[in-house]
Amino acid sequence: MSGAEYAVPGDVAVITLNNPPVNGLGHALRQGIAAGLERATADTNVRAIVLIGAGNAFSGGADIREFNTPAAMASPNLREVIAEVERSSKPVIAAIHKVAMGGGLELALGCHYRIAAPGSQLALPEVKLGILPGAGGTQRLPRAIGAAKALEMMVSGNPVLAERAPAGLIDELVPGDLLQGALAFARKVVAEKRPLRKLRDEQVTLEGDAATFFATAAQRIAQESRAFPAPPNIVDCVAASLNLPFDAGLKFERERYEQLVASTESKAMRHAFFAERAASKIPDVPDSTPTRTIKRVVIIGAGTMGGGIAMAFANAGFELTVLELKQEALDRGLETIRKNYGATVAKGRLSQADMDRRMGLLSTTLSYDAIGDADLVIEAVFEDMGVKEQVFRKLDAVMKPGAILATNTSTLDVNRIASFTARSGDVVGLHFFSPANVMRLLEIVRGAKTSGEVLATVMTLAKAIKKVGVVAGVCDGFIGNRMLEEYLRQSYFLVEEGAAPREVDKALQDWGMAMGPFAMMDMAGQDIGWHIRKRRRAEDPEHQVYPVWIDRVCELGRFGQKTAKGVYKYEAGSRAPIPDPEIDKLIADAAREAGVHRRQISNEEIVERSVYALVNEGAKILDEGIALRASDIDIVYLTGYGFPLYRGGPMFYADTVGLPKVLEVIERFQKGYQGRAWKPAPLLAKLASAAGRFNA
Ligand SMILES: NC(=O)c1ccc[n+]([C@@H]2O[C@H](COP(=O)([O-])OP(=O)(O)OC[C@H]3O[C@@H](n4cnc5c(N)ncnc54)[C@H](O)[C@@H]3O)[C@@H](O)[C@H]2O)c1
Repeated sequence: MSGAEYAVPGDVAVITLNNPPVNGLGHALRQGIAAGLERATADTNVRAIVLIGAGNAFSGGADIREFNTPAAMASPNLREVIAEVERSSKPVIAAIHKVAMGGGLELALGCHYRIAAPGSQLALPEVKLGILPGAGGTQRLPRAIGAAKALEMMVSGNPVLAERAPAGLIDELVPGDLLQGALAFARKVVAEKRPLRKLRDEQVTLEGDAATFFATAAQRIAQESRAFPAPPNIVDCVAASLNLPFDAGLKFERERYEQLVASTESKAMRHAFFAERAASKIPDVPDSTPTRTIKRVVIIGAGTMGGGIAMAFANAGFELTVLELKQEALDRGLETIRKNYGATVAKGRLSQADMDRRMGLLSTTLSYDAIGDADLVIEAVFEDMGVKEQVFRKLDAVMKPGAILATNTSTLDVNRIASFTARSGDVVGLHFFSPANVMRLLEIVRGAKTSGEVLATVMTLAKAIKKVGVVAGVCDGFIGNRMLEEYLRQSYFLVEEGAAPREVDKALQDWGMAMGPFAMMDMAGQDIGWHIRKRRRAEDPEHQVYPVWIDRVCELGRFGQKTAKGVYKYEAGSRAPIPDPEIDKLIADAAREAGVHRRQISNEEIVERSVYALVNEGAKILDEGIALRASDIDIVYLTGYGFPLYRGGPMFYADTVGLPKVLEVIERFQKGYQGRAWKPAPLLAKLASAAGRFNA
């Protein structure tokens, strides 16, 4: 069923939206609503019309299955349906439960009255896809709730709860049976001969001077939204709702909507939306694959990662036990967790009762004898193969059959770790990102023998703990950190060649990265990168080239924020990086010794070298099958590394630049200083010559 049902209990027609799962306004449903209206209008027994949703929503908006298909635009389109509703000679009442979002709320705004069940969420979230409500929402919402509140709702895209809806959005809150409530409300409207309240005929309200309001709003929103394209356009549309007649306002909205839909930024945001959905599909692990039940979780190691992972599970309501070898380590780990939750409570973002509930889910142990019946174990001990071996041999001995054994290793070979057990099918990498209770990315590292059942289970689990799971094959650094290494390498060389660390950071931040590479590594710990460089140089001295200055920073014990000095320096209690003349001198000296002629480096070069380093390594990762699809790589960078959403991820970005251009620039770098660090990926060359794209 993907249409609308029609019934006339008594003298009110009921049009039920029925297109599971969320009554997306697909073509069949739009046709169904239009047909229902026509029947109700023709039926002289019908005095009023109720629009109500079947199942789990009034309507979640456009049917995403129709995106980019002709059906999305097929007649009647949503604007036409809403115009019909509004034009109806009989009162139309929207009866909302659970969800009225996007086009769903725009449809409700076309109705003459809106009632809602308590707990319903109402939103115009289009901004999150880089667009704006394009079916009259920008013109009707200000007429319903005033310009200021409408602007806030559409620029944030956040839902409002029916009980807290601004005046004008909902006419009545209906606890109990919604349909019965709607029928009663409809009969009341008829009996009281209430007018057909059409928002198109109402005035937009706004306190104070409109010109000042919109000028201030435009300035604030331009600052907040950086390069996101939709918010400034929403401001203009709301201003149009005040300044233009309704139909001219609709036309204005339509023009802006179409411009946005065609913008690269919005395409990038829609790409990210679909990429996130696609990431949960594993081609050789069909949806029908059985999954195991995960109730009890054990975490080995209560350090930085173990603590964060424990919080992620406690937040999602899992029972868990943390194991360490020494009581002090357990105490320290638990204290950190308590402090972190306490800080959130102090900020008013978590109630004390919720904190207590989460802490109550946590238990600790020093003994492997206490954990055998858990369903999942996640190891987060020191990054050392010897220690991992000890842990996995023990786990193999004590865990019940069917328990999933996961490692949070960042760099070690998951196949080797699996080989320490007699059940490598049950072993998988669960690579969390720090802080693990905050970062959304979860790289799911698939070992050579990891079973489909285990993969399907951890994919489902990722959703349960509100993470975005992305499957990666086994290699040094998996997807994210392997690419990061090339990005960092370029940032080190850019500095050796003449750019100051702050200039590199600023250029990349201005381009959209959440942080520059030097500030980021000062936060993560420069010693981590140092350790990796040493290992890599030993493994492949020919290609693993790095300038010496960054090692010298580490040799001084300057590991970043944790030592109050890194590439930048830090004042006590502050995380704000301050450029350090000592480091500028260290860099200049090291470059002179290396015989490097230092020069002025443009922002364009900084960005191209850094971002194309990601792209080139991403292409190798894709070609080797380490990532299943280009969009998975994009999701890794969007959710784990602060890559700007409006650029869609490194692979999508390369597609928008054009692969021949990307290749040409990389070939130029290859001929330049330290060109041996650049080897164009064969897949990039192949796609560039065939006018292809990574995200086909
Ligand atoms: N720190 C990060 O940003 C990050 C990110 C992703 C993954 N990782 C990986 O997570 C793992 C842990 O890293 P971390 O930063 O939390 O380290 P950490 O040093 O903060 O914590 C390690 C903890 O493991 C405990 N431990 C050591 N050996 C043990 C054993 N045999 N049995 C039980 N407990 C033991 C230690 O007492 C310590 O509390 C490493 O494999 C690391 O590569 C770290």
